[in-house]
Amino acid sequence: MRRRDFLTYSAATSFLLLTGCGGSSNDNTNNTTPPPSPPPTTPSTGLITGEALAIPTLLDPTPVNGVKQFDLAIEEATHKFYYEFDTNTFGINATYLGPTLLLRQGEQVSINFTNNLAETTTMHGHGMHLPAVMDGGPHQLIGVGETWQAQYTVNQKACTNWYHPHEMGKTAEHVYQGLAGLIIIEDEESQALDLPKTYGVDDIPLVVQDRVFDNAGQFSYTPTNQQIMQGYRGENFITNGQVAPVFNAKAGLLRLRLLNGSNAGVYHFSFADNRQFQQIATDNSLLEQPVTLTSVRLSPGERAEIVVDLANDASNSVVLNVLESIDQRSATALTITVNNETAPVTSLPTSLTTLAAVDPSQASNTRTFTLEGMGNMGNPVLTINNQAMDMTVINETVPLDQTEIWEITNTMNMPHNFHIHATHFQVIDRNGSTAQVADNEKGYKDTVFIPAGETVRFLVTMTDYADANGKYMYHCHFLEHEDAGMMGQFVVV
Ligand code: C2O
Ligand code: CU
Ligand code: CU
Repeated sequence: MRRRDFLTYSAATSFLLLTGCGGSSNDNTNNTTPPPSPPPTTPSTGLITGEALAIPTLLDPTPVNGVKQFDLAIEEATHKFYYEFDTNTFGINATYLGPTLLLRQGEQVSINFTNNLAETTTMHGHGMHLPAVMDGGPHQLIGVGETWQAQYTVNQKACTNWYHPHEMGKTAEHVYQGLAGLIIIEDEESQALDLPKTYGVDDIPLVVQDRVFDNAGQFSYTPTNQQIMQGYRGENFITNGQVAPVFNAKAGLLRLRLLNGSNAGVYHFSFADNRQFQQIATDNSLLEQPVTLTSVRLSPGERAEIVVDLANDASNSVVLNVLESIDQRSATALTITVNNETAPVTSLPTSLTTLAAVDPSQASNTRTFTLEGMGNMGNPVLTINNQAMDMTVINETVPLDQTEIWEITNTMNMPHNFHIHATHFQVIDRNGSTAQVADNEKGYKDTVFIPAGETVRFLVTMTDYADANGKYMYHCHFLEHEDAGMMGQFVVV
């Protein structure tokens, strides 16, 4: 098993070295040609591609006594991925995924999730800084027909977060069925910056996932034990619930809020012409300055806000590709057709925000976490510090306002990542080297990628919400790993 993994992952690594992460095996790689003319006959079978990008609705809240109420219904649905099939899905006020919630720092919100499924679930605010009882983790089950309300005051910097189910042992399957949506947080600083920020026009969310469909066009969430160990990935890439959709943009700057919403794919996003773009935000904050890149890597749960300059692309199309680096599959994530109108924003500010300095000498202690594989092929068990997730065990007790170093070591021959609830962190070093921390991971983060055999240290301070009974989670965000035990619980006291 281990030897085989090693071979698989070294093959992936050499592929990346050869292609510089931008490799693409599909034909839609030339951005300088106009969009192809429609085929002579409309296909009537197969996956639907090339539709106008579906942009999740911006959900309008109802204010009640100064509290913004967002009403969301989790339901069974069918969604059109295929011409000839209706795919059974779960959705939130929609047939697949859910609406975008726009929250502003300092405001009080009540996010009301009604569970119309035939089974229990939960709904977690990934990246949200809030009290543990409002976190929507495995302890906040929403029974069939019940409504659960996440009520809190928005208390963090501008960023792109998301919500998704988190029921013990069911997270992977519930997300796979379509349950996820974005939360955009704005603050005074982000509103004052001259960034592209007209939702649906020059500020576009892209939730990218991969799926396996069976012969009847249904999601096939049937991981074998080996696929639980290695993560469940599919050959079909979908963006906002569509295969290779098309977005019509104005010539100028376009902001893309990228979420790797997959169960276990490590995605590298780049443009087909390998053009440069700027990353402006990590999981939980803007970056201090835009960082110029040609490819950005996101492991499951991570976000990046990127800005691409389309000023010279009027009448042409530009293709955003996604390469999944474990299985080495790539696809078109989005085709951007550019029209002749000028976009609202044509240049980026050079300075975006100010972040806390990363000063490890402020830490009063170090907590260590090792990610390990146990069990066997008949019963895969993944652990952190030799313990599989147990709802009745508090693994860590963290003092409020104490700055700590958390050191995470991936002992396995496969990649993992590490996500914490409650607050953000800042990466200190990788394998002891600050130089190995890329400029585009120097913003606030809640999820960090950890390649096979590597160690990451980050600085973290739990603030505001002490509750000896309120459990937060930390875990690998490869969802099969999380469900197979690679998760633990902490309280803040
Ligand atoms: Cu996105 Cu604990 O999860
Ligand atoms: Cu989370
Ligand atoms: Cu993992």
